[in-house]
Amino acid sequence: MYLTNQWDRHFALIAIDSGPVDFGIPLFNHTSHRRSLLSAFRNTAGVNMSQVTLKINGEIHALNIPPDMPLLWALRDKLNLTGTKYSCGIGVCGTCTVLVNGIPMRSCVMPAVSMAGTEITTIEGLDPAGNHPVQKAWNDEDVPQCGYCQGGQILTATALLERNPNPDDQDIDAAMAGVLCRCGTYSRIRKAIKRAANYPAEQGGTA
Ligand code: FES
Ligand code: FES
Repeated sequence: MYLTNQWDRHFALIAIDSGPVDFGIPLFNHTSHRRSLLSAFRNTAGVNMSQVTLKINGEIHALNIPPDMPLLWALRDKLNLTGTKYSCGIGVCGTCTVLVNGIPMRSCVMPAVSMAGTEITTIEGLDPAGNHPVQKAWNDEDVPQCGYCQGGQILTATALLERNPNPDDQDIDAAMAGVLCRCGTYSRIRKAIKRAANYPAEQGGTA
């Protein structure tokens, strides 16, 4: 059975997999729940499909997908852009963040078909050579620990610096608050954002 939307699937699978759920950490760490959710999105037998054309990292992709397939799975399963990670699947952790027209959005809860006509940037598209100021600052400050959340962190930081080239601590904390890091890299993230903001001056006006 292919349930009609990700919320139906998500909560049905919680019920099947987990029994009564404490809506805290156990939900997000439940491995069998995750496996079932992935399987539900991947099993498209008997599902009416939709055509959509997406512009991702400057390239056009024509996809034939279930109408409620989240952008996350279109990226990962259809286009093999696996830098965008799945974590909570319900829009609360920020791990799956991509930029849509430059704005950070959670790809796990956005139907891919609703993204037609937008410009999507995933972590693969920021700068494949790793020379974007935010990527360089992340390296210089040795930000990642396990790395799982870092795509969402880097893209959110990039959007912040686009709209505010010189953020203070409050600006950074407000902008980054929605992207959780289980490894607790927050202080290095803050340093890296400030470092990225200073690169143009440090490097004689070039980013
Ligand atoms: S995976 Fe947690 S917000 Fe999308
Ligand atoms: S670096 Fe491990 S979750 Fe953020």
